[in-house]
Amino acid sequence: MEKTVQLYEGKAKKVFATNDENLCIVSYKDDATAFNGEKKGTILGKGVINNRLTNRLMRLLMENGIPTHFVEELNDRETLVKKVSIVPLEVIIRNISAGSFAKRYGVGEGIVFKNPTIEFSYKNDELGDPLINNCHALALGLATEPEIETIKNYAFKINDILKAFMLEHGIELVDFKLEFGKLPDGSIVLADEISPDTCRFWDVKTHEKLDKDRFRRDLGGVEDAYNEVMRRLLGDTK
Ligand code: TMP
Repeated sequence: MEKTVQLYEGKAKKVFATNDENLCIVSYKDDATAFNGEKKGTILGKGVINNRLTNRLMRLLMENGIPTHFVEELNDRETLVKKVSIVPLEVIIRNISAGSFAKRYGVGEGIVFKNPTIEFSYKNDELGDPLINNCHALALGLATEPEIETIKNYAFKINDILKAFMLEHGIELVDFKLEFGKLPDGSIVLADEISPDTCRFWDVKTHEKLDKDRFRRDLGGVEDAYNEVMRRLLGDTK
């Protein structure tokens, strides 16, 4: 499959059209941003790691009944995916308090919740991805009621699958962000990426951070953390 024109360049990925109108190629960059693009940097090798990790996790989810946009890994940085229209909602699941949850509600990080939480942000960089609820999403016409219900059900099921898989590899899945897309037939599929950019991963024993918080918070050892996640989940450091 050949890339034709570039459709979109985001903060961490580029998306290209192909000669099949139903398929796109996603190309993962080493660029890293935080705080809605205010902080910029490079995480060497991140594109390769996020591409390979995302595809491994998409395959795992598909084996467990979750529909995704994944078609085929083309090379270290590029993946063929189904063309979708992205539902402009960032879906965040949390198992343990951290990040904006801890800040917003004035609690410490590391509180293990009895049940996972879900929240939605309106995916809109100009507005800084504001937090919204179901009714707001409906009012803004971002998704229909059945679509929101499907997205919620998928998100909690994805959490169960990923949490168990991570734990087998010594990683606590603290929280993560998902994005969903709509296929031409109207069905909802998981899209975007699942990587240390979009999840918080803590070592199960030491609680060491193995994700993009090392970049966001200037903790150092960013590349080492990404490589460690790849080593644990894929068994190599290629
Ligand atoms: P938060 O605690 O900053 O709201 O982040 C929750 C999760 O969502 C965390 O795993 C990181 C991920 N995330 C993204 O993938 N993209 C974003 O733009 C933000 C703010 C968070």
